[in-house]
Amino acid sequence: MANLPGTTDRRIDALLTLLTENSTIVISGEKIAKEIGVTRQQVWRWVQKMRELGVRVKGHARTGYHIERAPDILVPQLLSRRLFGTPFARRIYHFFKTDSTNTVAMQLGEQGEPHGALVLAEEQTAGRGRAGRKWISEKSAGIHCSILVRPPISPAHAPLLTLVAGLAARDAAAEELDVLPDIRWPNDLLVRGRKFSGILTEMHAEPDRMHYAVIGIGINVNQTKMPTELADFATSLRMETGKVHSRLEVLIRLLRHLDRYYNQFIAEGAGPILRRFAEVSSYFQGKRVRITTPIEVFTGTTAGLESSGVLRVMRDDGGGIESVLSGDVAEAS
Ligand code: BTN
Repeated sequence: MANLPGTTDRRIDALLTLLTENSTIVISGEKIAKEIGVTRQQVWRWVQKMRELGVRVKGHARTGYHIERAPDILVPQLLSRRLFGTPFARRIYHFFKTDSTNTVAMQLGEQGEPHGALVLAEEQTAGRGRAGRKWISEKSAGIHCSILVRPPISPAHAPLLTLVAGLAARDAAAEELDVLPDIRWPNDLLVRGRKFSGILTEMHAEPDRMHYAVIGIGINVNQTKMPTELADFATSLRMETGKVHSRLEVLIRLLRHLDRYYNQFIAEGAGPILRRFAEVSSYFQGKRVRITTPIEVFTGTTAGLESSGVLRVMRDDGGGIESVLSGDVAEAS
């Protein structure tokens, strides 16, 4: 694995895994020390550090330790076991804080890191959204993850990769919600018209060959409110259901669905992905929309997707069908 500065210490990872998997029992400092290969004094220091990170560990070196409630931290060792059999289990880079997981994953791509590497952060200080926007990434409230993929496809088919990720995130979230989420092309996830997840796909490619792509997924999970300027447009799973959701479980489901859709896309091509998008997105066909591209703003009605994943819109101004490669899509009245 690449040696990245700032990733979570493997021993904290091991300690968190040990305590979480044995949350109902008290484990002696000595046993922990032996299992993770450090001294008892060091275990004490790590426990202190974990308490600073908000993990509620009870006990002390003499009596042993136990965790009051399994912490919802995206611990690599735990994840790796639960993702066994997928390409995401092997190389998981976890940060308590980083600028942007997409930036880290792009660097890993450049360094030759293999397909499936996963970058996770409890908090991002410079989370990036589409069209140069920011993605607010409050500590441990949402999922901030980036997946490095090396698909054998041409860059022209990259929009399909984005649809694949959107479908996976949609299915993972649907299991947490009482109402079905919608996908606003290409991959904003909405519930009751408000956005709770976005995807930023970046790639390194030549005109006819993709070297690698990074799929960055942000999901608002346990935020209890949104910043004033976003309050009318954004929401979280918790704000919708009134319940606390396990980020770990949502992430595992997201990656399992991603593995399934990705394999289907590589094996069978665009067909099944486009059909699934048509089933679950109200934006696929017949939706009145306002499209904002870098060169113009126009209104029209959606008319399906091209085989490359590009959105077709019948323009109101009589200009016929427009193929929208990228841009902002908003529901129009
Ligand atoms: C959007 O809807 O504008 C896309 C948001 C993408 C946010 C995610 S969070 C994880 C990854 N790292 C980033 O800096 N951005 C993506």
